[in-house]
Amino acid sequence: AFATNPEYQKLQYRGDEALIAQEKKNAGKRAAEFVEDQMTVGLGTGSTVFYLVEALAKRVKNETLNITAVATSSRTAELAQKLGITVKSLDEVDHLDLTIDGADEIDANFQGIKGGGGAQTLEKIVACASSKNIWIVDEFKMVYKLGNFGLPLEVIPFGSKELFARLKREGLKPAWRLDENKEHVLTHNHNYLIDLRLGLIEHPHLLANWLDHQVGIVEHGLFLDVVDTVVVGKSEKTEVIP
Ligand code: 5RP
Repeated sequence: AFATNPEYQKLQYRGDEALIAQEKKNAGKRAAEFVEDQMTVGLGTGSTVFYLVEALAKRVKNETLNITAVATSSRTAELAQKLGITVKSLDEVDHLDLTIDGADEIDANFQGIKGGGGAQTLEKIVACASSKNIWIVDEFKMVYKLGNFGLPLEVIPFGSKELFARLKREGLKPAWRLDENKEHVLTHNHNYLIDLRLGLIEHPHLLANWLDHQVGIVEHGLFLDVVDTVVVGKSEKTEVIP
């Protein structure tokens, strides 16, 4: 659908944080409507998911929905629990009907980059365990080709300098993800993060396959052939694709 929509290719983020927040909120609210009574639902991570959880909690309360959630981060789990949603671990449920998560970029073929929040490993495990996946984004994340957003890798600290050098030799422009004190940002699993500043990814499947075979990489942020539906938030409405 949006592969041929030139509107998305022309969009450029102009730093309007209030507009972005409104679009994320619209996407989260709309996606909450996909959840049905008795469902087991995977909840992603990030600011768009925050709006989803808020909207979902309202539905759970007002419509007395009986749902169980599996969260992809402690941040999401705490918020969901605080707002009255039952949260279990993935190993405590026998299936996931639906997972709703944010994304950092989505291309014309529904492929995505995730992991801006460093949660891609848990997010990918939950996404792969789910019967259906929905992504919720603001319209500025819709791109023709992936790669403008740095591609996140979760890496084992042991030997990570050697891995970093290997990535550099391959021309993949790695950068450590560091905090304001120049310390490594740690993932949920106490691993490091490296972002690949690729600019443009011509062959996402080939790159994903190469990364899958590099020892030391726990998981990368290419989410290929994963999503079923994309909910794009706009200033006053949402678009559901397909
Ligand atoms: C975290 C993710 C997030 O879903 C992605 O970064 C989008 O975040 P936000 O909704 O805050 O823009 O993949 O690892």
